[in-house]
Amino acid sequence: MLTTRTIDETRDAIAKARASGHAIGFIPTMGFLHEGHLSLIDAARANGANFIVVSIFVNPTQFGPNEDFGRYPRDEARDTALLEGKAADLLFLPSVSVMYPPGSQTLVHAGAVARPLEGERRPGHFDGVATVVLKLFNIVQPDIAVFGRKDAQQCAVIERMVRDLDIPVKLVLAETAREPDGLARSSRNSYLSAGERVIATALYRALRAGEEAIHRGIHDVSEIESLMRAALAEKSGLEIDYIAVVDPETFLSPADFKRDVLIVGAVKLGRTRLIDNVRIARA
Ligand code: PAJ
Repeated sequence: MLTTRTIDETRDAIAKARASGHAIGFIPTMGFLHEGHLSLIDAARANGANFIVVSIFVNPTQFGPNEDFGRYPRDEARDTALLEGKAADLLFLPSVSVMYPPGSQTLVHAGAVARPLEGERRPGHFDGVATVVLKLFNIVQPDIAVFGRKDAQQCAVIERMVRDLDIPVKLVLAETAREPDGLARSSRNSYLSAGERVIATALYRALRAGEEAIHRGIHDVSEIESLMRAALAEKSGLEIDYIAVVDPETFLSPADFKRDVLIVGAVKLGRTRLIDNVRIARA
């Protein structure tokens, strides 16, 4: 695996791969890799990519002033070994000054889909995500880019950006990889104490309880939401940030259950914030 740190060497290596007929698959990440990230490599290959580019960049523009940018977990040696194990072809590891040199000032403004839920709690977050993803797309120019459904609203923001800005890339959205007890895999799980780790599974269980309620025929959004809130309220040490049934494109309350819906949730355990979601096929 080749590791690059500058835009020029990254472009050169990818141009060579493209010239020799490879289909470029791209997986942007913030590192501290886990099975969820690695499953995106499999999804890229399953969709025809045969030159796998992974980027690791903890992107400052998507973190709020009181968020965890400074303490976000980083382990370059471990990540490199994991990617070697998956036979990735190129690891792009830019610094902040490579991605945002002095004078850099242009931002992508994500639209309405970025406003509710995560967008409301994390002002500017999705503009930062959209900006860095567009920059990375322009550097890598992938044929296929893979994102995880675990970050459902991020997927919707990126799908919208690709359509709205005519970006020539095929997006693939991959299923959420989970721990055996259901907890969605996340780099931020490393923040959890042993006690918090046990309580953390309550989020996925609450989402599944919401899903079961829908399958039982309960189609009253506030009833479903209160049932999930009640399940989570029993857990001491867990604070609900939001839990909602939404339309997967707008992230607003669904008009009905004739189309797929998403149940999305965010909770705080001590200083750690976790998000998860389940998608429910139309009734
Ligand atoms: P990060 O949180 O590192 O996630 C990188 C990619 O892995 C995202 O597409 C995310 O949805 C996916 N992912 C994370 N956990 C997953 C899981 N358990 N199962 C499946 N996929 C999972 O998301 C970001 O970084 C950043 O916002 C980024 C897109 C790189 C822009 O900075």
